[in-house]
Amino acid sequence: MLFDLHPKEKPESLYGRDDDLSKIVGHIENHRWISILGPRMVGKTSIAKAAKFRLQRRRFTVLYVNLWGSNSMQGLLDGVLHALQDSSKLYRKVKKYLSRIEGLNVGLVHMTVKDGAKPVSLTWQILSLLGNHADDLCIILDEVQELSNVSSHLVKLLANIFSTYSNISFCFTGSQSGLVKSLHSPRPTSPLYGRTPAMLTIKPFEARISRNFLVAGLREHEMKVPLADLDEVVSRFGGIPGWLTYYGNSVTISKLSHKEALRQTEKEAFKTAKQTLEHYLEIRKRRIHLLALKAIAIQASWSEIRRAIEANTGKKINDASLKITVDALLEAFIIEKRGSTYQVVDPVVRRYLLSGKAK
Ligand SMILES: Nc1ncnc2c1ncn2[C@@H]1O[C@H](COP(=O)(O)OP(=O)(O)O)[C@@H](O)[C@H]1O
Ligand SMILES: [Mg+2]
Repeated sequence: MLFDLHPKEKPESLYGRDDDLSKIVGHIENHRWISILGPRMVGKTSIAKAAKFRLQRRRFTVLYVNLWGSNSMQGLLDGVLHALQDSSKLYRKVKKYLSRIEGLNVGLVHMTVKDGAKPVSLTWQILSLLGNHADDLCIILDEVQELSNVSSHLVKLLANIFSTYSNISFCFTGSQSGLVKSLHSPRPTSPLYGRTPAMLTIKPFEARISRNFLVAGLREHEMKVPLADLDEVVSRFGGIPGWLTYYGNSVTISKLSHKEALRQTEKEAFKTAKQTLEHYLEIRKRRIHLLALKAIAIQASWSEIRRAIEANTGKKINDASLKITVDALLEAFIIEKRGSTYQVVDPVVRRYLLSGKAK
């Protein structure tokens, strides 16, 4: 069902991403690693899960690890253990080997980590075991930028996997963080040099596709909405599949009127926009990033962003510092550059910034 609010799990519930899906599956089948990048709510998790479904049909084992909110190697370890327990067939197959790993308590259906066990070494031991005993295996690390502050540990671990176990492939999703950059353009001294993953950037739907998506979802419920109303939805939510889905769900499942569904979608989207921005700002210089964002919300050139920051802080900002700020926003897919001006990608994030609620 197109208007299901959960990330989609099956290729047939995923709208308009056939080419992306084929590319991902093709790369993984050829044991090439891949990163799926893009803004929040664009459908990265859905695409990764649909790829999981298709790969499983082709005899791959796929572990899905959600890293949102994890910021340590312990978080990665917990995610891997969780995914392994979820994959009952693989778990049954490797349980006897897992129980030989010191640091793990292995039960019938659950595993726990013993006190004092080191997450980096334990994760390596588990992945090595999978490298030795699983057949073709794909591990999806969803929202991998969350591990940015343990980037060097992770890159080393991944490089070791890459050079030792050709049956294990990784699929990363997230935004273009420093971590993703170091996976994609490693320095010559990096263990990943010459082994960069493929990269796929997922964009919001174009206006025509957005309209068709809404029509297709409504058709599943034998409903129609006047075209002018659909155009209003598309112009308000700018082709972000997550918001279009929410609107569609409100009209079809919750049976709200068009106006009420718009209002409800705006409310929900506003909450997520706030959460996304706050999560982004948590680890950054809040004031400068917010000043830049507020200028960009109106649409701004490089010098206009600079002027807005300088006027508000009363201090000069040099090109290098401004570049760090603007690049971080671009890499998080919060803003994009069109011609010589910068704009906020998600119209809801833009309205949130203009509302003055972000301080
Ligand atoms: N191509 C698509 N077809 C159908 N629904 C989609 C599509 N892309 C995203 N969605 C829906 O949008 C919402 C956000 O998708 P999700 O995969 O969680 O995005 P992301 O991981 O990029 O934040 C979910 O409700 C999902 O079902
Ligand atoms: Mg996601």
